Amino acid sequence: MKILFVTSEAYPLIKTGGLADVSGSLPVALRNNRQDVRLLMPAYHDALEQAGELHAVATVAMAGSTQPIRILEGVLPGTRVKVWLVDYPPAFNRPGNPYMTLQGDPWPDNAQRFALLSRVAVEIAQNRVDLRWQPDVVHCHDWQTALVPALLSLEPSRPATVFTIHNLSYQGIYDSTTFVHLNLPTALWHPDGLEYYGKLNIIKGGLAYADIITTVSPTYAEEIQTYEFGYGLEGLLGHRRDRLHGILNGIDYEKWNPAQDPRLKKPYTVRNLDDKEENKKQLRKDFNLSQKKDLVLIGMITRLVEQKGIDLILDAMPRLIQFPVQFVILGGGDSRFEWALGEWAKLYPDRIGLRIGYDETLAHHIEAGADIFLMPSRFEPCGLNQMYSQRYGTVPIVRRVGGLADSVVDATDENIAQGTATGIIFDHADANAVCWAVERALTLYRDFRVWRGMMRAGMRQAFDWKTSAGKYIEVYEEAVRLAALRP
Ligand code: ADP
Ligand code: GLC
Repeated sequence: MKILFVTSEAYPLIKTGGLADVSGSLPVALRNNRQDVRLLMPAYHDALEQAGELHAVATVAMAGSTQPIRILEGVLPGTRVKVWLVDYPPAFNRPGNPYMTLQGDPWPDNAQRFALLSRVAVEIAQNRVDLRWQPDVVHCHDWQTALVPALLSLEPSRPATVFTIHNLSYQGIYDSTTFVHLNLPTALWHPDGLEYYGKLNIIKGGLAYADIITTVSPTYAEEIQTYEFGYGLEGLLGHRRDRLHGILNGIDYEKWNPAQDPRLKKPYTVRNLDDKEENKKQLRKDFNLSQKKDLVLIGMITRLVEQKGIDLILDAMPRLIQFPVQFVILGGGDSRFEWALGEWAKLYPDRIGLRIGYDETLAHHIEAGADIFLMPSRFEPCGLNQMYSQRYGTVPIVRRVGGLADSVVDATDENIAQGTATGIIFDHADANAVCWAVERALTLYRDFRVWRGMMRAGMRQAFDWKTSAGKYIEVYEEAVRLAALRP
């Protein structure tokens, strides 16, 4: 099948979170499965720097653009997946984050920028760009590309569309005037379309018009049909539930492999777990923490935003710090969380190591060096770090939501006895529950045999893309079938 994969970020070209990991690895898995996949994304300043060799293969004519929109062709670095970058410097050639200014505010023209990306995708999908290639399926991700299924729905003959929700809390909501400024077809302005209580809601373009909707775990697919997790769109999603599938993300087994991770002090496998200790020492050095053997090392790597339950950690900290633990925390985001964590780190410099910012190497050091990985998310569509952790023999403590519930096996007595337990799961989003889970983990940690068993069970999980890529291919086939049935 020919698949146009449209995304706003892809590792290693540019990354702010898990969407980049997925966009950088699912297309590779699809290609390995003999699918003809092309990745379309904006030619951001940083992406241009990372992309290696590129050449212009086409220009796209678009009303209102002040200079030609070029399509630059290359490959996703280190792979044979073809990449098309939409090169329109007024919209995309800005340093840093794809969505935000250096001050952390959304770029004021985000609606215009991502509408442009979406319109280019539509032109390619309809074979109106001189690329001599037309997809059978267009696969879009999150609100930034959600106008694609909406705009394609107005074309008399078009490819099938699949829309994946990675995070429903970001919807692309704008005033109705933005709808006018974007010059969107009025046929899309109604409550079953892009209108949402008098406003423009861009993600609805994906949810209302795609032939198939997927999200990144089976549990999140159920959760988003409820008031608590649906962010106002639970009704629409419930209405379309026969078109909604939950497919758990895979992870890149080459980039995240403790046996041959060039970033590690000492690689290790399930058979020589003692070597993990070297990485623990290194990690403490990275954070200037003392090498105290009796302290259990808890790691976190996260965007510092409400979703990730950072407030729960802060509420729990007065009690957590009484336990025999050290923390290593890597993250960036809301300044109030950065500040509050910073205050704790100042109070306990030998117990809490904090690095504000983005650091790929340190992320690998944490996965390899920590004993425990903590992820107390309020909601989590999939989550990747709990899977990386298990692969690195670092036992995760997670809240029972979304993909966390689907990828961690709780250390119940029964699961421990059967050797299937891989982590600790708690239910309530409050400080008590976090403390209880950490205490439970520390008790299990003291039992060498049980803990080793959990580390090993985690390392043996199969989180690679093989199974999930197969499920996406089934979804694409289903979407093509449904698209053919359209009146
Ligand atoms: P989300 O996409 O909601 O942020 P995921 O768990 O799906 O959550 O993916 C987050 C990805 O971003 C992981 O690969 C994680 O290692 C990475 N990451 C997050 N924050 C940082 C950081 N400060 N430095 C390095 N990597 C980070
Ligand atoms: C989003 C979600 C995260 C998921 C990632 C990749 O950013 O917050 O849970 O793992 O997308 O699908």
